[in-house]
Amino acid sequence: MPTEQGNAQDSSRPAATRFGRRRALLAGGAVLAAGMGAAADELVRDDRTVGRAATGAPSAETATPFHGARQAGVTAPQQPATHLLSFDLPKVSAATDRKTLRGVLGALTRTLAAAASAAPPDPRLQSGGVSRLASLVGIGPALAARLGLNVPASFGELPSFPGDRLDPQRSNGDLFVQLCAADRWTLTIVAELVGAAAHAAGAVPRWTQSGFLPHTPPGTTPRNLFGSKDGIANPDRAAAERWVWGPTGAHRNGTVLVYRRIRMDVAAFAALPEGEHDRVIGRRARDGVPLSGTAEHDEPDIYAKNPDGSYVIPATAHVRLASPRFDAGARMLRRSYSYDDGPTDRGLLFCAFMRDPGQFTRVQNRLAARDALNPFLQHRASAVVYVLPGAAPAGTLGEQLWT
Ligand code: HEM
Repeated sequence: MPTEQGNAQDSSRPAATRFGRRRALLAGGAVLAAGMGAAADELVRDDRTVGRAATGAPSAETATPFHGARQAGVTAPQQPATHLLSFDLPKVSAATDRKTLRGVLGALTRTLAAAASAAPPDPRLQSGGVSRLASLVGIGPALAARLGLNVPASFGELPSFPGDRLDPQRSNGDLFVQLCAADRWTLTIVAELVGAAAHAAGAVPRWTQSGFLPHTPPGTTPRNLFGSKDGIANPDRAAAERWVWGPTGAHRNGTVLVYRRIRMDVAAFAALPEGEHDRVIGRRARDGVPLSGTAEHDEPDIYAKNPDGSYVIPATAHVRLASPRFDAGARMLRRSYSYDDGPTDRGLLFCAFMRDPGQFTRVQNRLAARDALNPFLQHRASAVVYVLPGAAPAGTLGEQLWT
């Protein structure tokens, strides 16, 4: 199966054209007035950045539209900085809690739409530059079950995995917001506004987490703290429609985010002998090329063998065990970030979008059993989130939850 150009920016069309076309469609009003209909779907398909985790600044200095059939935090080019916020909803009664949830989703919609607009009301966001704020809002499985919300049938808690050392204080939650932007300043201000709005509407903060990417020239893949290019093998547009976005119906424009906070032992990995880094991942560390191929975006061939009969991509290599070939071709869209919470707590904020969280479970079970990366990793926090479809200009996030 052909893979998409990972984190590379789409070079087939200038960013200005992409964004200009999208804005023109948005301005058409009728498009989004049609809710999640065919026209809105066309808008999403027209955005060539869907399914891409492109980094680097688009050349056109335009704000990323908040409104759309799908939330910009999944579809917009991946930005260099992220901030995650998780909230709980106090338990009163089902009727009261449903009302509170409506209030919180309304407050988040208004706050995020205003913050992402070309003229944000908070003067601290009016620096003259464009923040490229892109956000997503979702809900957790416990809240969905408790309030009988309309979420995809496959959406539910993740099982625990061998080796998990999860901190409940940094895991899960009823409501989840991911902010992505060009700079840390924007994230700090918007996180403050989001926190205040959610709190005023009745939500209680649970945890927050910030993350970052290295500066990455357009067209290249960012590296993680082990130095590996990360996010190469991501779905192309057609594969994303099949494996990332929801099934036909109310959840078509929703998706599921699996978040794992994975501590990495950077020093121990760096101390591996020459060549071992490549064998642990199954790709060359210096340029990301699979051991079975010649170019970064070659599909790793997990069946290729050496003359002595051994696999070219070793049996315990990360990309072999994570290969979609073991899952009938199913692909997840990985848009991970690094984090640094002190010298002994650095690692990866694994963020992957998929239609069915069972896909994560299958891959993680294979990785937990024998991934050569395991000695260098500790899974310290986890969350699974139903990422809501986007909101039309006159609408509110989460309207599909009540149908
Ligand atoms: C800190 C932990 C992790 C590190 C450092 C890491 C690193 C990498 C690297 C370097 C690649 C190859 C380049 C690429 O295609 O992006 C890769 C691929 C991949 N990883 Fe991870 N990864 C981690 C955790 C996970 C987890 C928890 C999962 C899912 C359970 C996962 C799923 C995948 C998948 C699906 C691929 C693409 C395989 C393919 O299609 O070739 N990774 N990872």
